[in-house]
Amino acid sequence: MRIILRLSIILLIAVITAVSTSTYDEGIASLYRQSNAVSAIDTTPVSPVEVETIIAYRREHMKALSAHYRSLESIINNNAPFDSHVLDHVNALIMLAQHTDETFPTGTTMLESEGWGAKPLIWEEPESFARIINDFQVSLETLQVVITSQNLGSNPVNALDQVRQSCLACHQQYRVRNS
Ligand code: HEC
Repeated sequence: MRIILRLSIILLIAVITAVSTSTYDEGIASLYRQSNAVSAIDTTPVSPVEVETIIAYRREHMKALSAHYRSLESIINNNAPFDSHVLDHVNALIMLAQHTDETFPTGTTMLESEGWGAKPLIWEEPESFARIINDFQVSLETLQVVITSQNLGSNPVNALDQVRQSCLACHQQYRVRNS
């Protein structure tokens, strides 16, 4: 009788482990699917209070991009002695750029009271905007490849300049500067 009881407890534990592992795997798989989703603008309506908060957050997101980009410029173009930091800055930019589209939900165009920020055009041509974000991500991945295969003679200065061009491509099209 005791043996049967023990065997059933072991069986129960095995079943619980199998079920929880498969749920965990499914969780990971769905995260992976999300991260591979085609970049698209969120069209869920945003309340007026949220709009200002989101715009403020987006500006912090941009400043974070800028700080990592400027750090790379210091090291790669101006020889600041921190070569070992380069890959971390590139990886940080890659991670952040995966979220850039999320910082532009519908309804967060520049405020009339401010007169600068994100142009309404972004939401009139979402495919073109998504393409620019995609080009930006590709320029960062190219920089990562160049950095990690530097011994093959590739040039990080040019790859970093391509990143700068992709920031500018978006700004020229979709941003009004605060003058
Ligand atoms: C897909 C378009 C896009 C890309 C790519 C992009 N930006 Fe921006 N950026 C914007 C828009 C739009 C604004 C204005 C946002 C606002 O004020 O709501 C902005 C604003 C900024 C600001 C001003 C933030 C503030 O406090 O007002 C900085 C700095 C900036 N971007 C830096 C960068 C850098 C550096 C890169 C590249 C590494 C970059 N951006 C890539 C669209 C982009």
